[in-house]
Amino acid sequence: MQKLKVVVIGANGQLGSDISAYFSGRCTLTGLTHEQIEITNLDNVRNVLSSLKPDVVINTAAYHNVPKCEEDPLRSFEINGLGALNLAKLSTELKYKFVHYSTDYVFDGAKQQAYLESDCPNPLNVYALTKLDGEKLIQNYSERYFIIRVAGIYGLTPCRAKGGNFIDTMVKAAAARPLVKVVNDEVLTPTSTQEIARNTWELIQTEAYDLYHMTAQEAVSWYEFARVIFKELDLKTPLESCSASEFPSPVKRPLYSALENGNLKKINLDLMGHWKTALIDYLSQYKALR
Ligand SMILES: NC(=O)c1ccc[n+]([C@@H]2O[C@H](COP(=O)([O-])OP(=O)(O)OC[C@H]3O[C@@H](n4cnc5c(N)ncnc54)[C@H](OP(=O)(O)O)[C@@H]3O)[C@@H](O)[C@H]2O)c1
Repeated sequence: MQKLKVVVIGANGQLGSDISAYFSGRCTLTGLTHEQIEITNLDNVRNVLSSLKPDVVINTAAYHNVPKCEEDPLRSFEINGLGALNLAKLSTELKYKFVHYSTDYVFDGAKQQAYLESDCPNPLNVYALTKLDGEKLIQNYSERYFIIRVAGIYGLTPCRAKGGNFIDTMVKAAAARPLVKVVNDEVLTPTSTQEIARNTWELIQTEAYDLYHMTAQEAVSWYEFARVIFKELDLKTPLESCSASEFPSPVKRPLYSALENGNLKKINLDLMGHWKTALIDYLSQYKALR
């Protein structure tokens, strides 16, 4: 059988790197960096993708530094909304399956229980609103889409938009401060990009086009998550829990945004592991690289 032709956009990003690593060898893979494609420019995207003739296009590109999105809502909509629209339109024109990543931040946190795909979003900030715009546009313009909401992602390649992930932040804080305080009232489902890559690979083998939550099993506070990081990396700096109100921010964020992989479960394709198992696995790789 002929191998699937897959294009990954944002191939040198945190998620794009792990998708590229997992997919290479399993398919004919083309990884594109921002220098090679500009998703906000429809003509550019059409030129690049029509020459590659992909079966599947995976978009990991986003404008997702949350405070920067507040400062520049137009740029945020351009990349997260119009960029998604361009790729959705072309998925119909060029007949590829379209995979796009979204976020737990589309919810406001009021539910205080894990969110299902059927729950009504209520974005609290510009980033979240423009990611939801992207979702809606894809649902209206693409016939074969997988929209995948992820949360608190971490991979061995640093997040380009944020300069690192939560684990990097903890390691730097432990080295720089006498005491590290982490919030215990912000609860979510932080997720390894390696796990997302593996589950995405299985999902694209199907024709089950839909909106999916794809996160680690069970909700956890950032403080509990940090406790495991400190223990596994043997960080000696004292770690203390605190409330999000101790870190006032001009940007509103949901205090509860855990996701339940409801639609993956329905099709028997929820392959995501428990947050602690995935984190410990990641930290052992992280230690080996240091
Ligand atoms: N990080 C998180 O905790 C988190 C949580 C929930 C959801 N997500 C979602 O997960 C996805 C992947 O995040 P990530 O952490 O892997 O991001 P990342 O490391 O910042 O990677 C994003 C990639 O997209 C490229 N890109 C940005 N704008 C582009 C454009 N206009 N055209 C083409 N390429 C562009 C970037 O290139 P340059 O850097 O060179 O511009 C980079 O290679 C995003 O959709 C994000 O919204 C992330």
